[in-house]
Parts: sequence; structure tokens; C-alpha cells
Amino acid sequence: MEEKTYAMPRIGDKAPEFKAVTTQGDINFPGDYKGSWVILFSHPADFTPVCTSEFMTFASMEKKFNEANCKLVGLSVDGLYSHIAWLRTIKEKIEYKGMKNVEVTFPLIEDITMEVAKTYGMLQPGESSTKAVRAVFFIDPKGIIRTIIYYPLSLGRNFDELYRVLIGLQTADAFGVALPADWRPGDDVIVPTAGSCGVAKSRMEGKEDMKCYDWFFCTKKLDKEKVLGTILKK
Ligand code: BEZ
Repeated sequence: MEEKTYAMPRIGDKAPEFKAVTTQGDINFPGDYKGSWVILFSHPADFTPVCTSEFMTFASMEKKFNEANCKLVGLSVDGLYSHIAWLRTIKEKIEYKGMKNVEVTFPLIEDITMEVAKTYGMLQPGESSTKAVRAVFFIDPKGIIRTIIYYPLSLGRNFDELYRVLIGLQTADAFGVALPADWRPGDDVIVPTAGSCGVAKSRMEGKEDMKCYDWFFCTKKLDKEKVLGTILKK
């Protein structure tokens, strides 16, 4: 029989659909999450140290992600009972960097067949053919993949960066702007590039309420309160 091939999902694609068993019951993805942002992320294996540190961090920040209309969904190729045992161990026994008694209440998908991991390009054989890499998919309320980040087995993710990406995507959408390197709420944002010679000229003559480094690179102020007030109240 011919082996099934899998195309890597890309930014701008519709998130591939699947049904799965999770630690919080069955889910229909991404249909059950319509209207919310979702971060779908994979980890290599239960009962491993880097993954444990990541799950504790993500669970501790879950409320913050939820307040930005974002739900978390984890996945590994381990089975449901392994997931349950691992999450119980985390809650009952692990104290790490001031976090203890951490309950993971977001769903953790069991993917023993590796079907979801293969569909989402989470299995990268050069790194491991039996464990998913640390993939992170940001999916918008319409079910479109908006950002994909991959980390290897040996490096834990930066969760402040994941939160920054989520807020950045929502800010770019809400205000019709782009965001410069290392942007954080409160920093200046980039206005769309001038689309005519007239606009380029008026910007360079300082006639618009923005700062121009050159005609194609202009920024404006966007208050942190306005950004967070817009995103966190949605
Ligand atoms: C870890 O999470 O600690 C880990 C998992 C797989 C390979 C290496 C490290």
C-alpha cells in the first residue's frame, strides 16, 4: 500500500480538522473553538523534564491567555492514561520556580497513531521520528493559522514570547498596523506604507501625525491602554 503523504500546514491555511480524545473529553478541532483564538502546541513526551517545566508555565499563564480570548490545546503522541498520570504527578509532586500544586485544566490530546502530529507537521524525522517536536500553532477565531513556531526537543519555549505573538497578531488585526522588531504594547507601531507619491510626499513633509524614518517606514503612537483595553475586553 502506498504511504500517505502529508503537506506541512502553512501560515494563512485553514487549520486542518480532526477529532481527538483529550484529558478534558473529546474535541472537534478547530470547530469547537470557533470565535476564539487557539494555541495548539505539541510536546515530545510525558514525564520528561523540559515538557514538565513548559506545562507548569503554560498552566500558570492560562488565565492570562484566556483573558485575551485564547484557549490552549496540547498534544503528544503518548496515550490518555499516560497524560492523566503525568498531569496528576505535576499537580501532586512537582514544585518548580515558585510554581506548585499546578493543575493543567486545558485539554491534552492523545495521539498514539500520530495522525494529528503528522497532519500538522509536528513530526520532524531529522529531530525524532517517534516524538513530536515543540510546535506552536496560533489559530484565529475563523480557524486560520496565523503563526507557526517550532522549537527542538532540547529547548523549552519562551512563554512571554508566545503571549507577545498572540497580542501582536490581535493588535495588527484590530488597528490595521504592522509591528516592528521586539514590539511590545505601548511601543510605536508601523503604519501601512504610502501607496501613492502624494501620500509619500505629505508624510515626508511632516504633514501627518506620524514619525517617518523614510517615506516607506513611518510609525505612530499606540497607547498600551488602548491596545490592552481593546484586546482584553473582546
Ligand atoms: C524533555 O522534555 O525533557 C525532553 C523530551 C524529549 C527529548 C529531550 C528532552
